[in-house]
Amino acid sequence: MQLLLLLVAFLLPPGAEAEEIIGGREARPHSHPYMAYLLTQTPTRESFCGGFLVREDFVMTSARCWGSTIMVILGAHNISRPERTQQRIRVLTAIPHPAYNEDNNLNDIMLLQLENRARRNQFVRPVALPQSRIQLRPGSQCTVAGWGLVDQNRRTDTLRDVQLRVQRDQVCSNLFNTYNGQKQICVGDQNDDATTFRGDTGGPLVCNNVAQGIVSYGRSIGAPPTVFTRIARFLPWINKTMRQYEHKESH
Ligand SMILES: *[C@@H]1O[C@H](CO)[C@@H](O)[C@H](O)[C@H]1NC(C)=O
Ligand SMILES: *[C@@H]1O[C@H](CO)[C@@H](O)[C@H](O)[C@H]1NC(C)=O
Repeated sequence: MQLLLLLVAFLLPPGAEAEEIIGGREARPHSHPYMAYLLTQTPTRESFCGGFLVREDFVMTSARCWGSTIMVILGAHNISRPERTQQRIRVLTAIPHPAYNEDNNLNDIMLLQLENRARRNQFVRPVALPQSRIQLRPGSQCTVAGWGLVDQNRRTDTLRDVQLRVQRDQVCSNLFNTYNGQKQICVGDQNDDATTFRGDTGGPLVCNNVAQGIVSYGRSIGAPPTVFTRIARFLPWINKTMRQYEHKESH
């Protein structure tokens, strides 16, 4: 499994320092209070992913982050430290999209129902989801945050973020033969001089305070653009799933 390496990756702008691509930018602590750090276990390995709180009892992430046991850490900045702001909550049910296809990464979305509701405060707060299917315009500026690798071997223990622009679908269709503009968003311009960064799979693309995408996969290390799952396309499934599991809980 390439979970740890399938990350957002960005080219170095001409003339930039090497540190910039490796370093990225440390986020202002707790400026992304919806961010979730996921510790995932399968019978053979342990790995980590990004995710984001969408309701007090649900975290959204990539279906690639599935595990038989998942622990969610909310309210974190430095993940190596037992910060007072952190809330650690076990996942009760991991619900990958039933049509998730691991060969072409279509329908790469998963909802995690939490064992206990998160306590909402200034460090832990859900992010809004889109209200309609209206497509994001190319050129829109969005933010991605994550605890992804800072190079091929080294993890960052503090949350990092970067601003990225939505690209025309054509840019990704030319690069990925299974790219689907209805279900996916093409993000990250190689000519952009935004700070370079790599964030993990499952993290959100946030545009105007709304989570529009989920980090799905990229071309290869160091080469934008990156493909995100288009959340707006999955609203009926998201609504239905969150309603269904809420009912289960109340019985
Ligand atoms: C994160 O916390 C660990 C453990 O306290 C510490 O060693 C490390 O320097 C911290 N990282 C940053 C970037 O502050
Ligand atoms: C999903 O629920 C949200 C909030 O309740 C609502 O605004 C939206 O229209 C719903 N979308 C669909 C497709 O059901």
